[in-house]
Amino acid sequence: VTPTATILNGKTYPVDEYTNVNPKILSYTCRKLHLQKYNPLCHVKRRIIDFIYKEFPSRTRSPLFSVFDDLDPAVSVEQNFDSILIPKDHPSRKKSDNYYLNNNHLLRAHTSSHQAELIRSGLNNFLVVGDVYRRDEIDKTHFPAFHQVEAVRLCGLHDVFRDENIARELKLFETGKCVRTPEKQETHTVDAVMMMTSALKTTLIKLVQHLFGKDVETRWVETFFPFTHPSWELEVNYNGEWLEVLGCGIMEQSILQNAGAGDKIGWAFGLGLERLAMKLYQIPDIRLFWSVDSGVVHQFKVDDPYAPIIYKPVSQYPPCKNDISFWLPENSTFSSADFYDLVRSIGGELVEQVSLVDEFYHKKKQRWSHCYRIIYRDMSKTLTQEEANVIHAAVEQAAAKNLRVDIR
Ligand code: PHE
Repeated sequence: VTPTATILNGKTYPVDEYTNVNPKILSYTCRKLHLQKYNPLCHVKRRIIDFIYKEFPSRTRSPLFSVFDDLDPAVSVEQNFDSILIPKDHPSRKKSDNYYLNNNHLLRAHTSSHQAELIRSGLNNFLVVGDVYRRDEIDKTHFPAFHQVEAVRLCGLHDVFRDENIARELKLFETGKCVRTPEKQETHTVDAVMMMTSALKTTLIKLVQHLFGKDVETRWVETFFPFTHPSWELEVNYNGEWLEVLGCGIMEQSILQNAGAGDKIGWAFGLGLERLAMKLYQIPDIRLFWSVDSGVVHQFKVDDPYAPIIYKPVSQYPPCKNDISFWLPENSTFSSADFYDLVRSIGGELVEQVSLVDEFYHKKKQRWSHCYRIIYRDMSKTLTQEEANVIHAAVEQAAAKNLRVDIR
């Protein structure tokens, strides 16, 4: 029997033609790795929260920034996309890129989903830490579930211009001509944007120095997000390689207006925890964060989140390579993402990599053929070829049944 609803955190999501979550993916929502005290992601999370608390001291006994690290990863389409101005036809909404519970709800694809509701609740400074979900390729740096930290800071006139006399002279918002330029949004004054940008960039450079050391080499890359303008990515040079670590920008004013904070101006950034932790601890494979193997877990069992740990490979167990070739169904919308997902849902963490190694069109048959190479590897014991073959056979069967391909 096929289930008619998904129950997650006490809420019921009826299954419909949009549903593409599977039990394997749903099982990751229970793990909450960023809340497990000794998980490397939790250590990095604590370093970041620590930094933000120190950087923004408050005059009261409670910190300036509120931290939300246990918000439900099931969000509405409105939260994940509409509330932060992602256009109705934007490619990031595609079914092939997201895990939809149904046509109205999905597993959040980023922590930005919570920006609008938290601003509406009256907060000016907050962090959101959480698990996020995206359908993606499969290799050592991609996993369908990963973790982000989001930061939002809203400032009033006197937060932006700290000097009384200057605040009396300058404004946050334009009264006259309103044009959007590469430097700023319509309603913002150049002065306000310059102050906010410099505060944002200074904070972020200090953050990566806090994480990687004072000598870390960084560069700003201009970019585009529907929810910020102007927008940047920050890259850090790590052993000669430029690594994108976060996205940020000046928040679109209409997000603030819609959430009842139109008199303020805001900056926001979002960063991926796995990326940072993999570099900080030299963790070679993203699946290791999910490992429950004592050889892995033990290495991070320290109370001090600043402990300088270098991950030692538990030992490299041998990989098993299995190829699968099939004819795609005639006139249908097969996508590689569907196949990657299917492999993941059956092989779970034993799947190290899936790559499309060959594709061709057969003129007489009028059909496409795809060949994928799947690398299976257990991280904590030797996976025998016989064991791999059992999983691979299950993949073949499921592909034939669910994706309607013809195994060759
Ligand atoms: N949500 C963006 C992402 O996931 C990151 C981001 C957050 C960018 C906040 C700008 C501001 O890529």
